[in-house]
Amino acid sequence: MSVPLWLQQRLHAAGGSVPFRTYMEWALHDPEHGAYGAGRLRIGRAGDFVTAPALGPEFAALLAPQLAQWLQQLDTARTLSLVETGPGEGQLAAQLAQALVAGWPQLAARTELVLVEPNAGMAARQRERLQHCPLPVRWSSFRQLADAPLAGVVVAHEVLDALAVERIVSDGSAWRRQRVTLDEGRLRLEPGDPLEPEAVARLQPLGLATPGAQRPAGWCSELHPGLEPWLAACGAALGQGRLLVIDYALEAWRYYAPSRCDGTLMAYREQRASGDPLLEPGAWDLTAHLCIDSLVAAAAASGWQLLGQRRQGEALLALGLAQRLHGLQQSSGHGVDLADLLARREALLRLVDPTALGDFRWLAFQRSTSEGEIPAASQFLQDPDPTEAG
Ligand SMILES: C[S@@+](CC[C@H](N)C(=O)[O-])C[C@H]1O[C@@H](n2cnc3c(N)ncnc32)[C@H](O)[C@@H]1O
Repeated sequence: MSVPLWLQQRLHAAGGSVPFRTYMEWALHDPEHGAYGAGRLRIGRAGDFVTAPALGPEFAALLAPQLAQWLQQLDTARTLSLVETGPGEGQLAAQLAQALVAGWPQLAARTELVLVEPNAGMAARQRERLQHCPLPVRWSSFRQLADAPLAGVVVAHEVLDALAVERIVSDGSAWRRQRVTLDEGRLRLEPGDPLEPEAVARLQPLGLATPGAQRPAGWCSELHPGLEPWLAACGAALGQGRLLVIDYALEAWRYYAPSRCDGTLMAYREQRASGDPLLEPGAWDLTAHLCIDSLVAAAAASGWQLLGQRRQGEALLALGLAQRLHGLQQSSGHGVDLADLLARREALLRLVDPTALGDFRWLAFQRSTSEGEIPAASQFLQDPDPTEAG
């Protein structure tokens, strides 16, 4: 596969080789050539990959009560902000705005929608979709927002998996930082230099102090150095409120299990998946799971307090998915479009499928509370009421 000219030039200028993290940053976020930066990736059934909001409005309808609860709990007379970071096609933002206006009109009257999207190509499509948004809407960056921090809720749905990761490779006795090298017109992954002692020390809490016999030469995984700066910037933008991260995520012991010998990095394009991150750089989405332990540690280090975490399937059941499914079944045969009904039913079932979207993780954080203050309740962490399922 030929290497695009722009990448060849970058690699030549960098001496022929860069750390994997730099390569991933370019391939995804370069404003001219990156898959997101240039707005090349399309989300949806006819696009490159599907996310929960692309299945229809069911996901937003179930998430909205949780966001409304948190917004209502904020003790302020100011305008409230519902922030979506990494809004993709803008589907979730549009669906949430509709759900909020329909279900909580008084709250909606005090709420603005703020979209944080660093990639101009994606932001252009979001503007188009949100032309008739029923809430006031603006685009901003965490840096700009930090000048007048908001009171509100930040939703990060399938965005942190797009932060560029570092890849480490075992050489049998030590860890090396993987690099991408241009070699006779082709891209190649190389083990790179050994990690510095300070970087090795940071692996200790992940159970990776040394590769050991269980992680032989070639064993490879990802680290997430972009999380802490991202969480710090998000925290500075939000004076008061909560952050909900929804993403593919694994505990460190599962993420770095000896049997997971090639990490979690995947490439997606036109509904196809590949384990090769070097395919057509700038045309494929590249994504890596989050490590829950790394995320929670990075959040604590940047002033966030964990409120709780749950698998998506359980979170959505706590928010009334079973009742919604039951309601759909009740409405069949009452002049309702059968095709629409079946599509909504399928979407709900896909959202809780434990082998797919149901295994996503929801992690909620709030800006650190002062001593003695009790963190406000979160509906998605409660157990569903079995009597309400009908
Ligand atoms: C997989 S899409 C998620 C889209 C949407 N949240 C959804 O669920 O359909 C990732 C989005 O995050 C954006 N993005 C990538 N890096 C980002 C960052 N550092 N901060 C905010 N958004 C980012 C991408 O441009 C894209 O819009």
